[in-house]
Amino acid sequence: MSIHIGAEPGEIAKSVLISGDPLRARHTARTLLENVSCYNEVRGMYGYTGFYNGKRVSIQGTGMGIPTTAIYVHELVHSYDVECIVRVGTCGSIQGHIGLGEIILALGASSDTNMNRRYFDGQDYAPLPDFGLLIRAYEQVKSENLNVHTGGIFSSDTFYDDVEHRWEKWIKHGVLGVEMETSVLYTLAARYGIKALSILTVSDNIITGKSSSAKEREQSYMDMMRLAFEIVPE
Ligand code: HPA
Repeated sequence: MSIHIGAEPGEIAKSVLISGDPLRARHTARTLLENVSCYNEVRGMYGYTGFYNGKRVSIQGTGMGIPTTAIYVHELVHSYDVECIVRVGTCGSIQGHIGLGEIILALGASSDTNMNRRYFDGQDYAPLPDFGLLIRAYEQVKSENLNVHTGGIFSSDTFYDDVEHRWEKWIKHGVLGVEMETSVLYTLAARYGIKALSILTVSDNIITGKSSSAKEREQSYMDMMRLAFEIVPE
């Protein structure tokens, strides 16, 4: 057991999907995996291990935001020897050409978080995904004819913000979407020597205020989950 995960050693697979919403983790495990067992209910952050087409995988809820994501990534690696973590989540698009329900593979994560700056003594580290996972995800998504975008995203510490023209500079620099977790996943993955990737579906457009219906969200979310389970190593 670790402080926030109640699993016994060996109960968590080497590859883990992480989802901000623990109920989505539960729903995904029950829908897509076989021989599923629940290894964690601490704080309602459900964690499940099961088999996807015969491959042993896990899925863990983390809650929203960088600090809570950092806790689960740390404990998955240090207490359970996890070697690959794929974030499966939603983001808000800030570019007009990206439609609701489309997939973004996060090629890098800018951020306003203080976590990296503290660690790197005020300097900027560029958080990047594992190239092999990225390529596999890109090839898989193309083979399924899903709409995919690869590019930079922004991991924000705030969901509600009243800064005017907040996204102008980021739009100008080609950043595709905004979420709240990827930067720390990529940074910790590099620090701990594991593989990581963020796969995001666009749930809303921050500029236009449009958002997808619950049904549309469910469809694109499950496409993304299948994609993530397909590409992770056993
Ligand atoms: N902001 C931050 N995170 C998000 C958003 C958003 O608009 N949409 C989905 N995740």
